[in-house]
Amino acid sequence: MTMQALSSRTPLGGTEDGVVAAATPDELSRIHDAGVDLVRWGRSMPGALASWLDGLPDGRLPHVRFSAPLGAVERAAIAAFDSAGLGPCVGRHLLIGDIVLLAMLYSHVEQSEWLSVRLDRIDHDACRKPHIDRVTTRLLCTYRGDGTEFGLPGHDDVGWRRGGSLGRFEVGLVKGLLHPARRLAAPALLHRSPRFQPGSRERFLLCIGAAHAPSAEGRNSETLH
Ligand SMILES: [Fe+2]
Repeated sequence: MTMQALSSRTPLGGTEDGVVAAATPDELSRIHDAGVDLVRWGRSMPGALASWLDGLPDGRLPHVRFSAPLGAVERAAIAAFDSAGLGPCVGRHLLIGDIVLLAMLYSHVEQSEWLSVRLDRIDHDACRKPHIDRVTTRLLCTYRGDGTEFGLPGHDDVGWRRGGSLGRFEVGLVKGLLHPARRLAAPALLHRSPRFQPGSRERFLLCIGAAHAPSAEGRNSETLH
């Protein structure tokens, strides 16, 4: 892909590209609209959360996945941090509170009582191939490190026209292949994980999806972002 090719096209980021920038969490529900592939919600988070996360050495944060009804997400998250040896403190309280908040918002948007929650420590190029998840929707939030990249299919040898990246703490709600309003006539937005720079700190990513029932675990594809 050449810079000339990039500049000759309309920049991504507007609704014409399937991207909606939400001003409030209520707008996350716009992911169900036809033609919308990503709703991004940028947020300001307490500095105490960022400094706590930044101060933790690699390998300390939990690396877990669990399925639970919404009402049990907080308990499961607390157990995950306890198991990782991260006891109660301001930073942990803020982070678990945010995980629970995003679980509540996602549960409301997806109308799913059961949720699949993943907390991933990522120290490599996780999923660089642009793709669409085989789910109805998925919520992503990077708490440490670079956020998920998104873009449109291209016509070059890379097959990818990068449109942007989610910021730290920014919520990204993506529409997947299984959504009934998925775009068929126009190219749908793709996403991929950012390149992991050698020497960088571990990324820390939250993914939330629908879990229809405990026996249905594993139905959704599991990729990192
Ligand atoms: Fe994905």
